[in-house]
Amino acid sequence: MSGDRAAALRAALAGILDAPGILAGSDIGERYKQDWKGMRGEPIAVLRPATPEAVAATMRVLHRLRQPLVVQGGMTGLVNGGVPLEGEVVLSLERLNRIEAIDPISGTATVQSGVPLETIQNAASEHGLFFPVDIGSRGSCQVGGILSTNAGGNRVLRYGMTRNSVLGLEAVLPDGSVVSRMGLMLKDNAGYDLKHLFIGSEGTLGVITRAVLILLPEPTSRDTALVALPDFPAVIALLRACRRRLGARLTSFEVMWRDYFGLVTGPLKAGRDPFAKPHPLYVLVETLGTEPERDRDALMETLGDFAGDHADTDAVLANSIAESNELWRLRDASGEAARAANPSAGFDVSLPITSMEAWVDEIHGALQALGVASIQTYGHVADGNLHLVIGYAKERPEMKGRINDCVYRSIGALGGSISAEHGVGLEKKSYLALSRSTAEIDLMRRVKAAIDPDDILNRGRIFTGGESK
Ligand code: LAC
Ligand code: ZN
Repeated sequence: MSGDRAAALRAALAGILDAPGILAGSDIGERYKQDWKGMRGEPIAVLRPATPEAVAATMRVLHRLRQPLVVQGGMTGLVNGGVPLEGEVVLSLERLNRIEAIDPISGTATVQSGVPLETIQNAASEHGLFFPVDIGSRGSCQVGGILSTNAGGNRVLRYGMTRNSVLGLEAVLPDGSVVSRMGLMLKDNAGYDLKHLFIGSEGTLGVITRAVLILLPEPTSRDTALVALPDFPAVIALLRACRRRLGARLTSFEVMWRDYFGLVTGPLKAGRDPFAKPHPLYVLVETLGTEPERDRDALMETLGDFAGDHADTDAVLANSIAESNELWRLRDASGEAARAANPSAGFDVSLPITSMEAWVDEIHGALQALGVASIQTYGHVADGNLHLVIGYAKERPEMKGRINDCVYRSIGALGGSISAEHGVGLEKKSYLALSRSTAEIDLMRRVKAAIDPDDILNRGRIFTGGESK
């Protein structure tokens, strides 16, 4: 049956897609069947257009056939957003991998959506420029994915979410028409800024094919420290000291609780624990700047004074890029750590920093009372974002729903968000109403129905029922 559908698609797409542009049957590799979160699906076919024009032409055919599709990038998402559902084809953007231009004067990179994040970071660096978005999956995740999910990551406190680093965008609508505004200017208030329809809407409104990204001058200093702390009030005190003393140089403030840190430095061997004894909390602090000596002194003095005022703290400062990378490996191992707790329920919540200490204590207690197998706690904290990965016994699959209910209801009650940065996908859609009002969800559905009346594009992701009735 799906073989017949694949053959019909192949015929309909002849002249649009070349031989490597369409995969069916046993040619469909595992990587198209699940994202990092792990749910599996079998697509009817995988379509791999190699140009933005071919994406549009492909989309016109799929629209004519009313063929549902799911869009894929690097598949590092954590909410099952890219997994093919029954009856869907995959539209993979991996061959749209050209950096079209880097303009040092405007400070922009014009790129296609299948370019991996790290490739952009490196290409910018070759021009003395810097793309500020950074996440642990940098080697695999792609522009289209980080834009469609408005990815957060490790430097949000200084540079904002991905949305803040985008000037222009091109997207193909579900009917195959192209909306393109690839401007190089920061200021452009001529009507609606439509790019924001596509940034963060998880591929439900259009397929992003190209983008103009903001590049900044490359920092000439990078200083990284790992600080060990006795309790959460010390974390807050350190954050305030870093903000006050380091100003705009402070780019990362990543907090790891002992449950996560012990796992990555112990069984997972992501790196070594540089401290003589275990501590309840660890903070990875990073500064980027333009005055190497002064920047390093500023961080050293900030940490030195902090240690003088706070008992039972310890800190190490990286002395080289290699040492800095070693420290980051502990934090970047979050993906591996999540996979190690299998099965697990993962969380990406945000809440006011002032509520964090009490909330973490309360939720740890409630989860332990439920009988969970393991807890990992870490997060970006300065922007209100915490991650929890909760392992449970394979023999108790019903635990997942109970864990989800426990975490999401308490976050909803606090007015926090059920998704700070990973998005909703399929994984969190049943909890969306805890973070969005009925009026907001209704407006989302109306926008979806207006743009995709047949509900063929990433259907059922974020919410169910975009079709116009
Ligand atoms: C992180 C991912 C899980 O912060 O968002 O490591
Ligand atoms: Zn994160």
